[in-house]
Amino acid sequence: MTHPLVVVANRLPVDLTVEPDGTPSWQRSPGGLVTAMEPVMRQADAAWVGWPGSPGEAPEPFDADGMHLVPVGLSAQEVADFYEGFSNDTLWPLSHDVISPPVYHRHWWDAYRRVNRRYAEAAAAEASEAGTVWVHDYQLQLVPAMLRELRPDLRIGYFHHIPFPPLELFAQLPWRRQVIEGLLGADLVGFQRSGDAANFLRVVRRWTDLPVRAGTVTVAEPGPERKVRAGSFPISIDSQHFDELSRSPWVRARAAEIRADLGSPEVLLLGVDRLDYTKGIRHRIKAVGELFDEGRLEVPGAALVQVASPSRENVEAYQQLREDVELAVGRINGEHGRIGTQPIHYLHHSYPPEEMAALYRAADVMLVTSLRDGMNLVAKEFVAACVDDAGVLVLSEFTGAADELNGALLVNPHDIDGLKAAVERAVTMDQREVRSRMRRLRRRVLTDDVSRWSRSFLEALGDVDRHVDVPS
Ligand code: G6P
Repeated sequence: MTHPLVVVANRLPVDLTVEPDGTPSWQRSPGGLVTAMEPVMRQADAAWVGWPGSPGEAPEPFDADGMHLVPVGLSAQEVADFYEGFSNDTLWPLSHDVISPPVYHRHWWDAYRRVNRRYAEAAAAEASEAGTVWVHDYQLQLVPAMLRELRPDLRIGYFHHIPFPPLELFAQLPWRRQVIEGLLGADLVGFQRSGDAANFLRVVRRWTDLPVRAGTVTVAEPGPERKVRAGSFPISIDSQHFDELSRSPWVRARAAEIRADLGSPEVLLLGVDRLDYTKGIRHRIKAVGELFDEGRLEVPGAALVQVASPSRENVEAYQQLREDVELAVGRINGEHGRIGTQPIHYLHHSYPPEEMAALYRAADVMLVTSLRDGMNLVAKEFVAACVDDAGVLVLSEFTGAADELNGALLVNPHDIDGLKAAVERAVTMDQREVRSRMRRLRRRVLTDDVSRWSRSFLEALGDVDRHVDVPS
């Protein structure tokens, strides 16, 4: 059976893990993309094409949680070259201000092309005649053009969840022209911020001869002339669901239990991230550590809970980050901890949404200090979970969320003194200001939720005037 809507993303929304006794089990996979797309999928007759998260042959398609899931298999070598290599050691750092130097290997690029073709073929097989395929994220930038070649009848949308690099950085990529051509296979190319769309259009102008007018590129070849629109569609979360979850008696009780287990600090700071160098965890720990060193935060009155969920653990830059963070946390805890209490509670785990909601509710101040971030959905989750309006969001200006979340305390995480001042201000803010800021934030997050995002993307995709002659 084919589907009128097919979502293609590197990962399925669930990861396959094999228990020690050999039985397979499925767990929700990490990251903002899955957080955003899961509720969209539940409402549509859609298939999701993606990788089940571990190397090996693809299992048969199956249904889970009201979604039809179509696994794409990656060999161990492809995981190393396509996923860990080109996607996460070339494109990821290149797209995040080269915080870590991107690595360019020709055999990684070969694997990227090969694997992108496999996803395109799987999507082509799932989509109904004249259906819609929605391709997601930097791991699959060649899929739109490959898919158009296979299925010119389809409407193809592509959404880029991470920042699109400025021309001066994108210029480094030896395969920059091929990536642009890949994306131009779509009818609509969506980005988080208008600045990302502008960066994309600049590189199109620089490395193609195609006319670009009012956010639209006219593509002449291959096939008949058609229009490709680029625009910004800031992503969100299922705010209502998160709000309701946070009001549940279980979450309320668990939040109280967390505070009690931490020794009932007066001030609870919280950080929640994938353990990724783009998230500014080192900067955050440094700032908090200095506040403890200077006595501006004190044990046991204040504590930081830092959730750092494991991510991309075979990539060297991530291994180095883990060492740096754990060393810094150990130093601060060694210096300021006492028996039974410590300033930083570091958790290298992932947690289900209920536990996250309880942590958000338990916290007084949420610290989002990314050095570069497409959107940052953790910031929006925190806001949706603050059902009693009591919480302060400290937010890096280098996130997409900073464009929208008026009411947060904006910080430049490179400015450690500025970051310390913002944390201190958050901790000492009077309750009237806390509430009025949080109310403003909540209005925004509860209105601009993920269903509005997906609707506006899919409507814009439906509206693109393609001028395509579909062979009958
Ligand atoms: C970010 C990316 C997603 C990615 C997620 C988790 O949110 O935009 O494409 O899936 O991180 O990363 P991982 O490498 O574990 O899929």
